[in-house]
Amino acid sequence: MSHKILVATNPAYEVHVGSHLLSSAAQAASRYSKVAVITDSNVGPLYCHNLDASLREHVIEVTAGEASKSFETLERVLDQLNTLGLDRDAALIALGGGVVGDLTGLAASLFKRGIPFIQCATTLLAQVDASVGGKTAVNLPSGKNLAGTFHQPAAVFADVSTLETLPASEFASGLGEVLKTALLAGEDAISALERDSESILDKNAEALARTVKRCVEFKAEVVAEDPLESGRRKCLNLGHTFAHAIEHIAGFGVIPHGVAVAVGIGMAFEQAIEKGVLRDGALADRSRALTAKLGLPTCLAEVEEAYRLRFPADAMRASMASDKKNHGNQVMLVLPVRAGEVALDVPL
Ligand SMILES: NC(=O)c1ccc[n+]([C@@H]2O[C@H](COP(=O)([O-])OP(=O)(O)OC[C@H]3O[C@@H](n4cnc5c(N)ncnc54)[C@H](O)[C@@H]3O)[C@@H](O)[C@H]2O)c1
Repeated sequence: MSHKILVATNPAYEVHVGSHLLSSAAQAASRYSKVAVITDSNVGPLYCHNLDASLREHVIEVTAGEASKSFETLERVLDQLNTLGLDRDAALIALGGGVVGDLTGLAASLFKRGIPFIQCATTLLAQVDASVGGKTAVNLPSGKNLAGTFHQPAAVFADVSTLETLPASEFASGLGEVLKTALLAGEDAISALERDSESILDKNAEALARTVKRCVEFKAEVVAEDPLESGRRKCLNLGHTFAHAIEHIAGFGVIPHGVAVAVGIGMAFEQAIEKGVLRDGALADRSRALTAKLGLPTCLAEVEEAYRLRFPADAMRASMASDKKNHGNQVMLVLPVRAGEVALDVPL
Protein backbone atom coordinates (compact mmCIF):
# COMPACT_ATOMS: atom_id res chain seq x y z
CA MET A 1 0.00 0.00 0.00
CA SER A 2 1.34 3.43 -0.86
CA HIS A 3 0.27 6.97 -0.06
CA LYS A 4 0.33 9.93 -2.43
CA ILE A 5 0.64 13.50 -1.16
CA LEU A 6 0.38 16.57 -3.37
CA VAL A 7 2.79 19.43 -2.70
CA ALA A 8 0.96 22.44 -4.13
CA THR A 9 3.99 24.61 -4.87
CA ASN A 10 4.65 26.10 -8.30
CA PRO A 11 5.32 23.66 -9.96
CA ALA A 12 3.28 21.15 -7.92
CA TYR A 13 4.45 17.55 -7.47
CA GLU A 14 3.52 14.32 -5.75
CA VAL A 15 5.29 12.51 -2.94
CA HIS A 16 4.79 8.73 -2.99
CA VAL A 17 5.26 6.97 0.34
CA GLY A 18 5.29 3.19 0.73
CA SER A 19 7.36 0.01 0.40
CA HIS A 20 9.31 -1.18 -2.66
CA LEU A 21 8.68 1.98 -4.65
CA LEU A 22 12.04 2.40 -6.36
CA SER A 23 10.91 0.61 -9.51
CA SER A 24 8.08 3.17 -9.85
CA ALA A 25 10.61 5.95 -10.38
CA ALA A 26 11.16 4.63 -13.92
CA GLN A 27 7.60 5.50 -14.90
CA ALA A 28 7.98 9.04 -13.55
CA ALA A 29 11.25 9.34 -15.48
CA SER A 30 9.98 7.90 -18.76
CA ARG A 31 8.92 11.29 -20.17
CA TYR A 32 12.52 12.63 -20.20
CA SER A 33 14.98 12.28 -23.09
CA LYS A 34 17.72 10.86 -20.87
CA VAL A 35 18.03 10.32 -17.12
CA ALA A 36 21.15 10.24 -14.93
CA VAL A 37 21.02 8.78 -11.45
CA ILE A 38 23.14 10.47 -8.79
CA THR A 39 23.79 8.28 -5.77
CA ASP A 40 26.46 7.74 -3.12
CA SER A 41 28.98 5.00 -2.43
CA ASN A 42 26.79 3.34 0.25
CA VAL A 43 23.39 3.60 -1.40
CA GLY A 44 24.43 2.81 -4.99
CA PRO A 45 25.63 -0.75 -4.31
CA LEU A 46 22.57 -1.41 -2.11
CA TYR A 47 19.74 -0.02 -4.26
CA CYS A 48 20.76 0.81 -7.83
CA HIS A 49 19.75 -2.71 -8.91
CA ASN A 50 16.19 -1.98 -7.70
CA LEU A 51 15.88 0.74 -10.34
CA ASP A 52 14.59 -0.10 -13.78
CA ALA A 53 17.37 -1.26 -16.16
CA SER A 54 16.85 1.85 -18.33
CA LEU A 55 17.84 4.03 -15.37
CA ARG A 56 20.97 2.05 -14.56
CA GLU A 57 22.69 3.12 -17.78
CA HIS A 58 23.87 6.48 -16.46
CA VAL A 59 24.81 6.36 -12.79
CA ILE A 60 27.09 8.88 -11.11
CA GLU A 61 28.35 7.84 -7.69
CA VAL A 62 29.71 10.36 -5.20
CA THR A 63 31.50 9.54 -1.94
CA ALA A 64 29.01 8.98 0.89
CA GLY A 65 28.96 11.76 3.47
CA GLU A 66 28.53 15.48 4.00
CA ALA A 67 31.90 16.26 2.33
CA SER A 68 30.26 15.57 -1.05
CA LYS A 69 28.10 18.69 -0.64
CA SER A 70 30.97 20.72 -2.10
CA PHE A 71 31.60 22.84 -5.21
CA GLU A 72 34.27 20.35 -6.20
CA THR A 73 31.80 17.42 -6.30
CA LEU A 74 29.12 19.63 -7.86
CA GLU A 75 31.47 20.63 -10.69
CA ARG A 76 32.46 17.00 -11.30
CA VAL A 77 28.79 15.93 -11.41
CA LEU A 78 27.86 18.76 -13.80
CA ASP A 79 30.75 17.90 -16.08
CA GLN A 80 29.79 14.21 -16.10
CA LEU A 81 26.21 15.13 -17.02
CA ASN A 82 27.55 16.96 -20.05
CA THR A 83 29.86 14.05 -20.96
CA LEU A 84 26.88 11.69 -20.74
CA GLY A 85 25.12 13.88 -23.31
CA LEU A 86 22.20 15.11 -21.22
CA ASP A 87 20.24 17.87 -22.95
CA ARG A 88 17.63 20.33 -21.67
CA ASP A 89 14.90 17.64 -21.91
CA ALA A 90 16.82 15.30 -19.62
CA ALA A 91 16.33 14.79 -15.88
CA LEU A 92 18.21 13.62 -12.80
CA ILE A 93 17.29 11.13 -10.11
CA ALA A 94 18.68 11.59 -6.60
CA LEU A 95 18.99 8.14 -5.04
CA GLY A 96 20.10 8.55 -1.44
CA GLY A 97 19.76 10.69 1.65
CA GLY A 98 19.75 14.45 2.13
CA VAL A 99 23.34 14.84 0.91
CA VAL A 100 22.60 13.29 -2.48
CA GLY A 101 19.24 15.09 -2.61
CA ASP A 102 20.71 18.55 -1.90
CA LEU A 103 23.62 18.03 -4.31
CA THR A 104 21.46 16.60 -7.10
CA GLY A 105 18.84 19.32 -6.68
CA LEU A 106 21.50 22.02 -7.03
CA ALA A 107 23.08 20.26 -10.02
CA ALA A 108 19.61 19.99 -11.63
CA SER A 109 18.88 23.67 -11.04
CA LEU A 110 22.19 24.70 -12.67
CA PHE A 111 22.73 22.22 -15.51
CA LYS A 112 21.89 23.95 -18.81
CA ARG A 113 20.06 26.59 -16.71
CA GLY A 114 17.77 24.06 -15.05
CA ILE A 115 16.44 20.56 -15.68
CA PRO A 116 13.94 18.54 -13.59
CA PHE A 117 14.95 16.06 -10.89
CA ILE A 118 13.24 13.26 -9.01
CA GLN A 119 14.00 12.45 -5.38
CA CYS A 120 14.27 8.79 -4.34
CA ALA A 121 14.90 9.33 -0.64
CA THR A 122 16.56 6.48 1.27
CA THR A 123 17.10 7.95 4.75
CA LEU A 124 14.34 8.68 7.25
CA LEU A 125 15.56 12.27 7.45
CA ALA A 126 15.32 12.73 3.69
CA GLN A 127 11.91 11.03 3.54
CA VAL A 128 10.30 13.14 6.28
CA ASP A 129 12.08 16.39 5.55
CA ALA A 130 14.94 16.99 3.10
CA SER A 131 13.37 15.55 -0.08
CA VAL A 132 10.33 17.84 0.13
CA GLY A 133 10.35 21.60 -0.23
CA GLY A 134 12.88 22.30 -2.96
CA LYS A 135 15.84 23.57 -0.93
CA THR A 136 19.12 22.58 -2.58
CA ALA A 137 22.64 23.39 -1.42
CA VAL A 138 26.32 22.71 -1.10
CA ASN A 139 28.47 23.81 1.83
CA LEU A 140 31.15 26.52 1.80
CA PRO A 141 34.34 26.31 3.85
CA SER A 142 32.80 28.95 6.15
CA GLY A 143 29.48 27.20 6.74
CA LYS A 144 26.80 24.65 5.87
CA ASN A 145 24.25 25.09 3.06
CA LEU A 146 25.51 28.60 2.23
CA ALA A 147 25.32 28.17 -1.57
CA GLY A 148 22.04 26.86 -2.89
CA THR A 149 18.81 27.43 -4.78
CA PHE A 150 15.11 26.70 -4.51
CA HIS A 151 14.33 24.03 -7.12
CA GLN A 152 11.28 21.85 -6.49
CA PRO A 153 11.57 18.17 -7.50
CA ALA A 154 9.30 16.79 -10.22
CA ALA A 155 8.33 13.88 -7.93
CA VAL A 156 9.46 12.28 -4.69
CA PHE A 157 9.58 8.57 -3.81
CA ALA A 158 9.96 7.71 -0.13
CA ASP A 159 10.50 3.95 -0.08
CA VAL A 160 10.38 2.95 3.60
CA SER A 161 11.72 -0.54 2.83
CA THR A 162 15.13 1.08 2.16
CA LEU A 163 15.23 2.11 5.83
CA GLU A 164 15.96 -1.51 6.78
CA THR A 165 19.63 -1.06 5.86
CA LEU A 166 19.97 2.42 7.37
CA PRO A 167 22.54 2.56 10.21
CA ALA A 168 20.95 3.05 13.67
CA SER A 169 22.52 6.49 14.18
CA GLU A 170 21.07 7.71 10.84
CA PHE A 171 17.65 6.30 11.72
CA ALA A 172 17.83 8.17 15.07
CA SER A 173 18.68 11.31 13.14
CA GLY A 174 15.45 11.03 11.15
CA LEU A 175 13.49 10.49 14.36
CA GLY A 176 14.59 13.93 15.61
CA GLU A 177 12.88 15.53 12.59
CA VAL A 178 9.84 13.27 13.08
CA LEU A 179 9.57 14.56 16.67
CA LYS A 180 9.90 18.17 15.51
CA THR A 181 7.22 17.73 12.86
CA ALA A 182 4.77 16.16 15.32
CA LEU A 183 5.19 19.08 17.76
CA LEU A 184 4.59 21.54 14.92
CA ALA A 185 1.68 19.65 13.36
CA GLY A 186 -0.35 19.53 16.58
CA GLU A 187 -2.19 17.28 18.98
CA ASP A 188 -3.25 14.53 16.53
CA ALA A 189 0.30 14.12 15.23
CA ILE A 190 1.80 14.08 18.74
CA SER A 191 -0.69 11.43 19.95
CA ALA A 192 -0.09 9.36 16.80
CA LEU A 193 3.66 9.45 17.39
CA GLU A 194 3.17 8.49 21.05
CA ARG A 195 1.04 5.53 19.88
CA ASP A 196 3.35 4.49 17.03
CA SER A 197 6.76 5.04 18.62
CA GLU A 198 7.43 1.37 19.46
CA SER A 199 6.36 0.12 16.01
CA ILE A 200 8.53 2.82 14.43
CA LEU A 201 11.55 1.70 16.45
CA ASP A 202 10.78 -1.89 15.32
CA LYS A 203 10.82 -0.54 11.73
CA ASN A 204 7.29 -1.80 11.10
CA ALA A 205 6.70 -0.84 7.45
CA GLU A 206 3.11 0.35 7.92
CA ALA A 207 3.96 2.44 10.98
CA LEU A 208 6.92 3.93 9.11
CA ALA A 209 4.81 4.73 6.05
CA ARG A 210 2.09 6.32 8.25
CA THR A 211 4.71 8.42 10.03
CA VAL A 212 6.48 9.55 6.85
CA LYS A 213 3.10 10.37 5.28
CA ARG A 214 2.07 12.52 8.28
CA CYS A 215 5.38 14.40 8.22
CA VAL A 216 5.23 14.96 4.46
CA GLU A 217 1.62 16.17 4.65
CA PHE A 218 2.64 18.77 7.21
CA LYS A 219 5.75 19.89 5.33
CA ALA A 220 3.76 20.01 2.07
CA GLU A 221 1.20 22.31 3.69
CA VAL A 222 3.89 24.62 5.07
CA VAL A 223 6.04 24.87 1.92
CA ALA A 224 3.01 25.39 -0.32
CA GLU A 225 2.02 28.35 1.86
CA ASP A 226 5.55 29.77 2.16
CA PRO A 227 7.86 28.25 -0.50
CA LEU A 228 10.70 30.79 -0.01
CA GLU A 229 10.70 30.82 3.82
CA SER A 230 9.59 34.38 4.31
CA GLY A 231 7.14 33.54 7.11
CA ARG A 232 5.49 30.33 8.29
CA ARG A 233 8.21 28.02 6.89
CA LYS A 234 10.55 29.36 9.57
CA CYS A 235 8.64 27.13 12.04
CA LEU A 236 10.53 24.16 10.56
CA ASN A 237 13.62 25.54 12.32
CA LEU A 238 12.26 24.55 15.75
CA GLY A 239 15.28 23.31 17.75
CA HIS A 240 17.64 24.04 14.86
CA THR A 241 19.49 27.12 16.14
CA PHE A 242 20.64 25.10 19.15
CA ALA A 243 21.19 22.01 16.99
CA HIS A 244 23.47 23.84 14.55
CA ALA A 245 25.57 25.13 17.47
CA ILE A 246 25.82 21.58 18.91
CA GLU A 247 26.85 20.18 15.52
CA HIS A 248 29.32 23.02 14.97
CA ILE A 249 31.04 22.60 18.36
CA ALA A 250 31.15 18.80 18.07
CA GLY A 251 32.50 19.04 14.50
CA PHE A 252 30.06 18.44 11.64
CA GLY A 253 29.21 14.77 11.19
CA VAL A 254 30.06 13.75 14.77
CA ILE A 255 26.50 14.09 16.11
CA PRO A 256 23.75 13.17 13.62
CA HIS A 257 21.71 16.25 12.70
CA GLY A 258 18.35 14.96 13.98
CA VAL A 259 19.91 13.85 17.27
CA ALA A 260 21.14 17.44 17.73
CA VAL A 261 17.65 18.66 16.78
CA ALA A 262 16.12 16.52 19.56
CA VAL A 263 18.40 18.20 22.11
CA GLY A 264 17.69 21.56 20.48
CA ILE A 265 13.97 21.00 20.95
CA GLY A 266 14.58 20.33 24.68
CA MET A 267 16.55 23.59 24.86
CA ALA A 268 13.82 25.46 22.96
CA PHE A 269 11.31 24.29 25.60
CA GLU A 270 13.65 25.54 28.38
CA GLN A 271 13.85 28.95 26.68
CA ALA A 272 10.09 29.02 26.05
CA ILE A 273 9.47 28.43 29.78
CA GLU A 274 12.08 31.02 30.82
CA LYS A 275 10.63 33.67 28.49
CA GLY A 276 7.01 32.88 29.38
CA VAL A 277 6.25 31.89 25.75
CA LEU A 278 5.05 28.33 26.51
CA ARG A 279 1.30 28.26 27.15
CA ASP A 280 0.92 24.50 27.69
CA GLY A 281 3.33 23.48 30.46
CA ALA A 282 2.43 19.79 30.12
CA LEU A 283 3.71 19.82 26.52
CA ALA A 284 7.32 20.21 27.73
CA ASP A 285 6.99 17.02 29.82
CA ARG A 286 5.27 15.16 26.98
CA SER A 287 7.93 16.22 24.50
CA ARG A 288 10.70 15.10 26.88
CA ALA A 289 9.00 11.71 27.45
CA LEU A 290 8.48 11.22 23.73
CA THR A 291 12.10 12.16 22.98
CA ALA A 292 13.31 9.55 25.47
CA LYS A 293 10.84 6.95 24.13
CA LEU A 294 12.32 7.46 20.66
CA GLY A 295 15.78 6.79 22.10
CA LEU A 296 16.95 10.38 21.61
CA PRO A 297 18.83 12.58 24.11
CA THR A 298 16.57 15.08 25.87
CA CYS A 299 19.20 17.59 27.07
CA LEU A 300 22.79 18.75 26.55
CA ALA A 301 24.03 16.77 29.58
CA GLU A 302 22.85 13.51 27.97
CA VAL A 303 24.55 14.26 24.67
CA GLU A 304 27.72 15.35 26.52
CA GLU A 305 27.78 11.99 28.28
CA ALA A 306 26.94 9.92 25.20
CA TYR A 307 29.58 11.58 22.98
CA ARG A 308 32.10 12.50 25.73
CA LEU A 309 32.03 16.14 24.62
CA ARG A 310 31.53 19.51 26.36
CA PHE A 311 29.25 22.29 25.14
CA PRO A 312 30.15 25.35 27.28
CA ALA A 313 27.44 28.05 27.36
CA ASP A 314 29.78 30.74 25.91
CA ALA A 315 30.76 28.49 22.97
CA MET A 316 27.07 27.70 22.33
CA ARG A 317 26.23 31.44 22.35
CA ALA A 318 29.11 32.30 20.00
CA SER A 319 28.14 29.54 17.61
CA MET A 320 24.44 30.51 17.63
CA ALA A 321 25.42 34.11 16.90
CA SER A 322 26.85 33.00 13.55
CA ASP A 323 23.66 31.12 12.50
CA LYS A 324 22.56 32.22 9.03
CA LYS A 325 18.92 32.59 10.19
CA ASN A 326 19.77 35.55 12.46
CA HIS A 327 18.83 39.16 11.78
CA GLY A 328 21.84 41.40 12.22
CA ASN A 329 23.58 40.43 15.44
CA GLN A 330 20.44 39.19 17.19
CA VAL A 331 20.02 35.41 17.64
CA MET A 332 16.45 34.55 16.67
CA LEU A 333 14.66 31.47 18.01
CA VAL A 334 11.58 29.45 17.14
CA LEU A 335 9.96 28.57 20.48
CA PRO A 336 7.03 26.24 21.30
CA VAL A 337 3.80 27.86 22.52
CA ARG A 338 1.41 24.87 22.56
CA ALA A 339 0.82 21.71 20.47
CA GLY A 340 0.88 22.87 16.82
CA GLU A 341 1.87 26.45 17.62
CA VAL A 342 5.29 28.11 17.82
CA ALA A 343 6.48 31.70 18.23
CA LEU A 344 8.77 32.82 15.39
CA ASP A 345 11.69 35.27 15.57
CA VAL A 346 11.96 35.37 19.39
CA PRO A 347 15.24 37.11 20.32
CA LEU A 348 17.50 34.95 22.56
N1 LIG B 1 16.96 20.32 1.57
C1 LIG B 1 16.41 20.32 2.75
O1 LIG B 1 15.31 20.83 2.97
C2 LIG B 1 17.13 19.64 3.88
C3 LIG B 1 16.48 19.41 5.09
C4 LIG B 1 17.16 18.74 6.09
C5 LIG B 1 18.46 18.31 5.89
N2 LIG B 1 19.08 18.57 4.70
C6 LIG B 1 20.45 18.11 4.44
O2 LIG B 1 20.44 16.69 4.42
C7 LIG B 1 21.75 16.22 4.74
C8 LIG B 1 21.61 15.08 5.70
O3 LIG B 1 20.84 14.07 5.08
P1 LIG B 1 20.84 12.58 5.64
O4 LIG B 1 20.67 12.60 7.09
O5 LIG B 1 19.91 11.83 4.80
O6 LIG B 1 22.38 12.14 5.43
P2 LIG B 1 23.16 11.41 4.24
O7 LIG B 1 22.59 11.69 2.95
O8 LIG B 1 24.60 11.71 4.47
O9 LIG B 1 22.93 9.86 4.58
C9 LIG B 1 23.41 9.36 5.81
C10 LIG B 1 24.27 8.11 5.61
O10 LIG B 1 23.41 7.02 5.35
C11 LIG B 1 23.78 6.36 4.15
N3 LIG B 1 22.54 5.83 3.59
C12 LIG B 1 21.55 6.53 3.00
N4 LIG B 1 20.51 5.74 2.77
C13 LIG B 1 20.86 4.50 3.21
C14 LIG B 1 20.18 3.25 3.26
N5 LIG B 1 18.92 3.14 2.87
N6 LIG B 1 20.84 2.20 3.75
C15 LIG B 1 22.13 2.32 4.21
N7 LIG B 1 22.80 3.47 4.22
C16 LIG B 1 22.16 4.55 3.72
C17 LIG B 1 24.48 7.40 3.33
O11 LIG B 1 25.37 6.82 2.41
C18 LIG B 1 25.22 8.18 4.42
O12 LIG B 1 26.41 7.52 4.77
C19 LIG B 1 22.49 17.39 5.31
O13 LIG B 1 23.46 17.82 4.38
C20 LIG B 1 21.43 18.46 5.51
O14 LIG B 1 21.94 19.76 5.35
C21 LIG B 1 18.44 19.20 3.70
